[in-house]
Amino acid sequence: MAAEAAQAMTSGGADRRPRHVAIIMDGNGRWATERGWPRLVGHRRGAERVKQIVRACPELGVDWLTVYAFSTENWKRSTEEVLGLMKIFRRYIEREAEGMSAEGVRLRFIGGRDRLDPKLRALMSSIETRTSGNTRLNLTVAINYGGRDELTRAAGRLAQKIARGEVSDPGENDLADCLDTAGHPDPDLVIRTSGETRTSNFLPWQAAYAEYEFTPTMWPDFTPEHLGTILDRYGMRERRFGGV
Ligand code: IPE
Ligand code: IPE
Ligand code: MG
Repeated sequence: MAAEAAQAMTSGGADRRPRHVAIIMDGNGRWATERGWPRLVGHRRGAERVKQIVRACPELGVDWLTVYAFSTENWKRSTEEVLGLMKIFRRYIEREAEGMSAEGVRLRFIGGRDRLDPKLRALMSSIETRTSGNTRLNLTVAINYGGRDELTRAAGRLAQKIARGEVSDPGENDLADCLDTAGHPDPDLVIRTSGETRTSNFLPWQAAYAEYEFTPTMWPDFTPEHLGTILDRYGMRERRFGGV
């Protein structure tokens, strides 16, 4: 690595911005319950927050935003909550399609699609195609995403490539090319709201060298100002990537 690039990566300074931010949007349920409201009210408010954060990212110098919306483990919740969340995802895509196109957002999804409702799957594919030429912000939404599930599916794809003779002596890049995030840069910073300090199966491969920020703020209360403060703090961190 050139000395200059190494310097840029390791030195501090609030002007140094993460290129790719990933967020575990947690706390919607508690936010609603604390107010005596149904959990779905928290999820609806959470979806509003996503819109605000998406709009703020380009101004904050973030090019890639990945958000964890539904995990492979979240199917354990009540049917009412799961169906309610799926409805929120459908509405979000339907209502935001126009705006995202106008604002230069390229929307993509990661996670297994087989288990999702065909109508939602069709909407997901159509907006991915519709926004594929946009470059201002790369927004990736993780739905039915689990890191272990993704790695298992990737291992299957890699095995097929090896069987077809397309790959021999597989290395890290060959596996990375089989992940749902193939071609995406790794996240520089992972934020989790709501005070929980675990990663809950989110991007275990991609975030191997990410910085982490845990904030007590519940996701429905998380504003672009909170994000700005965290990004400033990130600028002061020293990333060594195993070097000295
Ligand atoms: C995060 O909020 C959104 C999803 C997991 C879908 P939660 O629903 O997990 O909220 P809490 O953690 O119960 O407060
Ligand atoms: C992680 O939050 C998943 C999402 C934010 C979509 P959870 O609330 O499901 O995670 P745990 O159960 O607290 O680990
Ligand atoms: Mg939670």
